[in-house]
Formats: sequence, C-alpha cells, structure tokens
Amino acid sequence: MTNAAKTIVGNWKLHGSLQENAARLAALKAGCRSDDALAVCVPFPYLAQAQQLLQGSAIGWGAQNVSEHAKGAFTGEVSATMLADFGCGCVIVGHSERRSLYGEDDATVVRKAQAVAAAGMTPIVCVGETLSERERGDTAQVVTRQLAAVLTVASEELKHRLVVAYEPVWAIGTGRAASEEDVREVHALLRGQLKEAGVNGARLLYGGSVKANNAKALLNIAGVDGALVGGASLDAEEFLAIVQAARA
Ligand code: PGA
Repeated sequence: MTNAAKTIVGNWKLHGSLQENAARLAALKAGCRSDDALAVCVPFPYLAQAQQLLQGSAIGWGAQNVSEHAKGAFTGEVSATMLADFGCGCVIVGHSERRSLYGEDDATVVRKAQAVAAAGMTPIVCVGETLSERERGDTAQVVTRQLAAVLTVASEELKHRLVVAYEPVWAIGTGRAASEEDVREVHALLRGQLKEAGVNGARLLYGGSVKANNAKALLNIAGVDGALVGGASLDAEEFLAIVQAARA
C-alpha cells in the first residue's frame, strides 16, 4: 500500500474458495491501476493463493486476525511472523466481530497490533461504537478509549506503521453507512488523538457499508484516507468501482 491514493482494503471475512478467489483476484488485477492503493484481507488458508496470484501486482494482501503470541502451545493460532512469511503487508486487528464474538478486549488488540508491527506489517486497528453506545452518547468516549489503549503503549515501530479504521458497529453489514457528519466528527476526534500522541502519518479509514454508490461521498469527507470494505469487496466489479472512486 502506498500513500499516493486513498487506501481501499477489502475484508473478505469468512468467504471464498480457491476457484472463487482466483476469479475475483484475476478481475481485480485486470481492473486496477499501478497507482491504486488497495489490498485484500483473505482467510488464512488462502494466503498462499493471494501471494501467488498477486505477486508483482499493485494489490497488497493481508490477514483478518493474528495471534498475540510469537510461538508456543497455542493450538489453532497463527503468528505475525507466519503471516509475514506469506508476504502479508497488513493485518486487520480488533475488528468488532473479533471483539464481540471472540471476546477480544483492548489489551488483546494492543498486543496483536504490536506483534503485527514488530513483524514489519501494517496493523489496521479497528475502533467503533455499538448502536447502544451511540444512543447513550458514548461514541467519543468509546472510540478514544479503544485508540488510547493502543497509543499509550505503542512502540515507535507501531506508531510508524499504524492504520486506524473507524467502523461504527451498527454500520457494518447493515447497508446503513454512517452519515458524513458522523464520520467527519469521529475522524477529527481520532486525528486529534493521534497528533497528540505524536502519530502524524497514520492513515484513518472509514468502514461500515461502504458500497460503490456511496464510496465517493464517504472518501471525500475531510480526514478520510480510505475505506475498509466488507461485503462489497466480494464482488470484483463493485470493489473496483470503490477503488476507482478513491482515485484523485
Ligand atoms: P461491510 O463490512 O462493508 O460489509 O459493512 C465492513 C467491515 O466489517 O470491515
């Protein structure tokens, strides 16, 4: 991923097969330009396929989760160095589905982000409030707490590599993206917090129901450096339309 264009990251979640992925990746390769900044985060078993098919293309690849541990008796886990071995450039850390379904707390998210940065990859740390937190007026408190957990202990390496994705939980997979005003407000808040911690270069993505038809508007909001895209990243044509919307 380069800093040139807005960054578009696809999160395939628990979807795909060798055949399906091959077709999708071929379509993405054919449709993207060398100056696009895009990546796909694929399920672990397909990392080798992504590495093989995307090598030499403008498209980066990454994972959706990582172990906080380097090695040891942790059955079922995958370490950051294993991901780096497959040429991963980025790893999604602390996605709300990991937080809510698999009990990841702020402390776990921090350890995972540190592990990713230490292995030379980009951690895409997700923050975002639930609907009830928003309705209670707790949005600012929740997202700043989640980001502060990372910033207070971040190594210089992590500060240097950090990407943050603001993903309001109620906007994920619902078809109801956050309003431009909400995105602008939260991004300004997070940007201020990053600056205060001396993290000036971090990209701030928005995620939550980004589609071809709202991408341009969302990407044009001040402070939005790109998008983390779930459902719409499974359709090559739609994902490419979002990549196109990200071009200057
Ligand atoms: P969505 O998912 O685009 O399907 O809302 C975004 C995400 O979970 O990262």
